[in-house]
Amino acid sequence: MNDRPSALADLSPDDQLTQPFHGASPYDEYVRASVLNSLQQPLTEAADEMGFLVTTQVMELWFTLITHEWRAARDAFAKDDLDAATDALVRSRRAVEALVASWTPVAALTPHQFDGFRAAFGRASGFQSAMYRHMEFLLGDKSPALLRSHQGDPSVHEALRVAYQEPSLYDEVLRFLHRRGLPVPEPVRERDVTAPYESDPGVVAAWRVVYAGPQHHPLLALGELLTDIAERMLRWRFDHVLVVRRAMGTKTGSAGSSGVAWLEARAKRPVFPELWAVRGDV
Ligand code: HEM
Repeated sequence: MNDRPSALADLSPDDQLTQPFHGASPYDEYVRASVLNSLQQPLTEAADEMGFLVTTQVMELWFTLITHEWRAARDAFAKDDLDAATDALVRSRRAVEALVASWTPVAALTPHQFDGFRAAFGRASGFQSAMYRHMEFLLGDKSPALLRSHQGDPSVHEALRVAYQEPSLYDEVLRFLHRRGLPVPEPVRERDVTAPYESDPGVVAAWRVVYAGPQHHPLLALGELLTDIAERMLRWRFDHVLVVRRAMGTKTGSAGSSGVAWLEARAKRPVFPELWAVRGDV
């Protein structure tokens, strides 16, 4: 047995580590932990509400990080900087993995447990998350109706309007591929970027050139990185459907949708559709 005192036992009142801070700690000034930790205000005494609220807030933070990385990647593609774009996409892939893992605390709510606090939050629903719409817009899934629904909140609406009018991450990927010599059709490159992205056979043909070529080509690695991200986003959506089915069965949603059936239809919307289509083609 080691009889050396532990590092913690070594701490004395005059240890550098235990000197009092002047005001908030440098940690708190940087992380804003006391602000963050003041934001959990359950509306009921239900034992499961805190976990639901914290999980939702944690997911909002992952949405923020993922949006940040996808914007960085999009802007790097616009500058033909594949290295910087790849770095941002790799970071985002890990963030999306963390997002998917974040379902765990709410994944097994019973209808009774969920009902313990459901009425208290009224019409609130993740459907109203503006940051989730930023993510969808970056994936190319633009919607004027979903933009309009935020118009009562001017600063949120303005930020989302900018995202709505800008090219998506995928738009910039396709323009980049074209500049690298791939046959991305002009109507796709010049498309109205406020319209939802629709799968295009010419883009399948462009990815086919990549996927039928050398298997260690950097553009194939890019295709696989984007497919990783698409797959993880689909997992988030399908896990959401399972969580919802478990917590409330076929009841209607708090925002007013039909609930599970509506979410199942939404979950099936493709992410980077041609990267899936090309697999049946090479
Ligand atoms: C017990 C847990 C949950 C249930 C029962 C649930 C239920 C639902 C339902 C029924 C909808 C459809 C819209 C509506 O009518 O309300 C929805 C949408 C949505 N929820 Fe959840 N949800 C849960 C947890 C979460 C969490 C933790 C988040 C994280 C922020 C979240 C994010 C979303 C988003 C982003 C949508 C919109 C999806 C889309 O537009 O395709 N949900 N949820």
